[in-house]
Amino acid sequence: MNVDLSTSYMGLQLKNPVIIGASRLTGNVESILNLEKNGAAAVVLKSLFEEQILMDIDNQRMNNIFDSYSDVENYIGFYTKQNSLNNYLKLIKDAKTQTKIPVIASINCDSNGEWIEFAKKIENAGADALELNIFILPSDPEKTGEEIEQTYFDIIKSVKSVVNIPIAVKMSYYFSGFANFATRLSNTGINAMVFFNRFFSPDINIKTQKVGSGNLYSTPEENSMVLRWTGILANKLECDLAASTGIHDGKAVIKNLMAGANAVQMVSGLYLNGVGDLVIVLQEIEKILSENNFTSIKEIIGIANKEKITNPQAYQRAQFMKYFSDSGK
Ligand SMILES: Cc1cc2nc3c(=O)[nH]c(=O)nc-3n(C[C@H](O)[C@H](O)[C@H](O)COP(=O)(O)O)c2cc1C
Repeated sequence: MNVDLSTSYMGLQLKNPVIIGASRLTGNVESILNLEKNGAAAVVLKSLFEEQILMDIDNQRMNNIFDSYSDVENYIGFYTKQNSLNNYLKLIKDAKTQTKIPVIASINCDSNGEWIEFAKKIENAGADALELNIFILPSDPEKTGEEIEQTYFDIIKSVKSVVNIPIAVKMSYYFSGFANFATRLSNTGINAMVFFNRFFSPDINIKTQKVGSGNLYSTPEENSMVLRWTGILANKLECDLAASTGIHDGKAVIKNLMAGANAVQMVSGLYLNGVGDLVIVLQEIEKILSENNFTSIKEIIGIANKEKITNPQAYQRAQFMKYFSDSGK
């Protein structure tokens, strides 16, 4: 049976639901071409950081003050930073001219500031959409949750005032009233949310007591949190949703779509298994849908969302008590 794998995400028509998430995998055109060859529906480019853009602005100011490049250090600083921004714009242009799949640019940011003007250059370079990876770790005891949430609203408002391309917000899960915040955020005119970003996690070396980084790559188990929030919120959001974190195979893609995601993002699975694994993932999706008598991806999106199932509390259940009493363990 022929299965239609196409889906729509933030206004982009995708040939299948698998987008490659921001990472080094999407950091150069050669690699993007290889992802396309293996079936990627779209790519989110590796992120540009707010700091990189701000440094560029500072360098331009310095040059205006000195009116020349006489300060060698300043020159080098200007050249390298300018280059990284120009390289990013070139990456967008080259990816757009050499591939047929949608190219989503990405910016990591944590404040509403002068960097926002750069979003316009990203749009002009031809990006099909922009993903904002907004991350504010709520580690400052002086900062309230409300202030942190407001920063999200401010950034979105500013970016929307300079670009017309669709905007996605890659979310963190560090919010106390997550359902309330996410639904309010989805009403700001953004086109999609990504549940969730995955952060560098600290780890301690017992011998040296040095704090380093934990696992760089996700495990499939990490997807259950994404599945929970997708199942609870997808139908309540006023925008599309991409599931991300711990999606390593075709089964996981299908589960996240069934929970309500319009598309998924994959990164770690392809680092661990190689980009060629994408072909297997797509074949697996087609096979499972066919075996279960589905003819299209669209039929399964949201089929197991909280609002569609007979036991919605399954998404809410947080304590293990019932599981243990049911299972006799
Ligand atoms: C090596 C590496 C580089 C990454 N770089 C970025 C980045 O530049 N911007 C970003 O938003 N996320 C970045 N991420 C996070 C991924 O886009 C993704 O959200 C995360 O890895 C969870 O998805 P996964 O479980 O499929 O890996 C990176 C992840 C890895 C492993």
